[in-house]
Amino acid sequence: MLHSLLKIVLTLSISPLIRFVHGSINPVEIHEQHFFDSVTREPFFIKGVDYQPGGSSDVTSKQDPLSDPKICARDIFLFQKLGINTIRVYSISPDLNHDACMTMMAAAGIYLILDVNSPMENQHLNRYEPWTSYNHNYLQHIFEVIEEFGHYNNTLGFFAGNEIINDGHSAKRSPSYIRAVVGDMKSYIKKNSPRGIPVGYSAADDLRYRIPLSQYLECHRENEPDSSIDFYGVNSYQWCGQQTFQTSGYDQLVSAYKEYTKPVFFSEFGCNTISPRSFAEVEALYSTDMINTFSGGLVYEFTQEPNNYGLVAMDRDGTAHLLHDFVALQNRYTAIESNEFQMIRKNAISLMAAAPLPACKDKYENIQIDEQVPQDLAKDLVRKGVDQKRGKYLSLKDSDLVSEFDIYDENGVKLNGKCKMEVVNKIEILQSDDEHVSQPKESNPDPREPPRQAEKQKEKESNAASFLTLSVPSAFFWTTCFLYFALHCNAF
Ligand SMILES: *[C@@H]1O[C@H](CO)[C@@H](O)[C@H](O)[C@H]1NC(C)=O
Repeated sequence: MLHSLLKIVLTLSISPLIRFVHGSINPVEIHEQHFFDSVTREPFFIKGVDYQPGGSSDVTSKQDPLSDPKICARDIFLFQKLGINTIRVYSISPDLNHDACMTMMAAAGIYLILDVNSPMENQHLNRYEPWTSYNHNYLQHIFEVIEEFGHYNNTLGFFAGNEIINDGHSAKRSPSYIRAVVGDMKSYIKKNSPRGIPVGYSAADDLRYRIPLSQYLECHRENEPDSSIDFYGVNSYQWCGQQTFQTSGYDQLVSAYKEYTKPVFFSEFGCNTISPRSFAEVEALYSTDMINTFSGGLVYEFTQEPNNYGLVAMDRDGTAHLLHDFVALQNRYTAIESNEFQMIRKNAISLMAAAPLPACKDKYENIQIDEQVPQDLAKDLVRKGVDQKRGKYLSLKDSDLVSEFDIYDENGVKLNGKCKMEVVNKIEILQSDDEHVSQPKESNPDPREPPRQAEKQKEKESNAASFLTLSVPSAFFWTTCFLYFALHCNAF
C-alpha cells in the first residue's frame, strides 16, 4: 500500500529529479538468468557506463578511478544526471583506500562491477603464456581486490578477465586458465566474503570465440562445481548509427544466448564509427526483444580518451565538459524509465523459467580447453584469507558530496549552483571492535526477511530535515547519514 502510494507520488512529482531517500543499499543477486535486488526482489537491469579515466594504464599505486573522493563527487553527480545505476571499472589498486568513493556511490544508488586485474606486473594473466602469470603473486592480488570490495553492498560483481581471448593463439592457451581463475575467485568468496558476490567474464567482440567461450565458462563440472561463471559480459560494437534489431544483428545475438542459464549483458557497447552517437540501440536493449536474454549494458565509456568514445571531456584541472554523446545517452536512458518500459521489464521476468545447467563437453568450437592448469595453487590463500583492509562505508559530510570542479554543458554553458549528488540511499555504518575477525556466512540474516522492527525503529530515529550524522559511542555504533536532495546545478 505504502509502496504503491510512493510510486504514485514518484510518478506525479513535478520535477523528474526528485527522488526519495529509501532504504539501505541492497546487494544485487542472481536467480536464473537475471539480476535482482536481494531485498525488494525487483529485477535489476544494468544501465551504466564503463569508467576508467585515463585508461587502465593510468592506475598506479598512488591513484585509481575510485581513490580520489573529489573526482568521485564530480563524476557521481554526473552519473546521476546520465541516469545510470552501475559503472564498470577495469582496474584499481587494492593498496589505495576506496571507502569514500564507494560510500558516495552507495548513497547515490550506483553499483560497481569490478575487474580484478590490472596492467601492472603480477596483476593479470598473460594471454599467450598464462602459465607464466598464473602464480601465487597473481592470486594474492586478485584475492586482495575481492577481500576489499566484497565488503561493500554495492559491489555487484567481479570480472575475472576482460578480452583475454582475442585471437586464435590466446583461444588455444587461455580458456582453461580463465576457468581456473573463476573457480579460485568463487572459492575465495565462498570462504572469506560476507556474501556470495557473482563472478563473470567479459568477452571480446569476436563471434569465433565469444559464443563457444560462453558455453565453456557456463558448463557444469561434477568435480569442480564452483568453476563456472555466474554471468557473462559481451563487448559488442555491432550497432553503428541508424540500425534496427535485425539490421544490427542483435537478433542473432539474442538467439545465440536465448538458452543461456546465466545473466548476459553488454559489458561494453556504443559503436562510434558514426558520430555523434545517437545510442538508438538502448531502446532495443531494454525492450521486449531483448530483456528476456540481456540484463542491460554498459556504454563505453564515460571519459573522453584518445580513442574518442567519451561522454565527458575532462581538463587537467578537473573541469568537466559534457559532450553531445552525454546528452544523447541521457535522453535514451530517461526514455526507458517510462512507465511503459518499466511494466515491460517487470512482466518479462515473471515469465522466466528455470533451466538446468548444461554439463561440460570435451570440445568447444574454436577454443582449446585442455591446458593443464596447476591444481590447488590457490588453496592456502583461500583457506587463510589474504591480509587486506576491508572496505567499509564512512560517514561523509554534506560538503563532500558537492563537486569542487566546474562543469560545462554541451553548449559550453557553465552549470551554476551547487553540483551535488543526490542521496537516494541511507547508509548505515556499523563498526565493530573485531572488524578483522571474519564472520561466518551462516550469521548473515536471510535477505528475504529483513528485520522489520529494527528497520522501522531506525526509520523513526532518522531525521529527514537535513544531513545528519548520529553516532553512539559504544562497541557497536550506528551512524545514520540522511540527506534530502537539495539544490542541483540549475542548468540541468
Ligand atoms: C547491506 O545489505 C544488507 C541486506 O543484505 C542490509 O541489511 C544492510 O543494511 C546493508 N548495508 C548498508 C550499509 O546499506
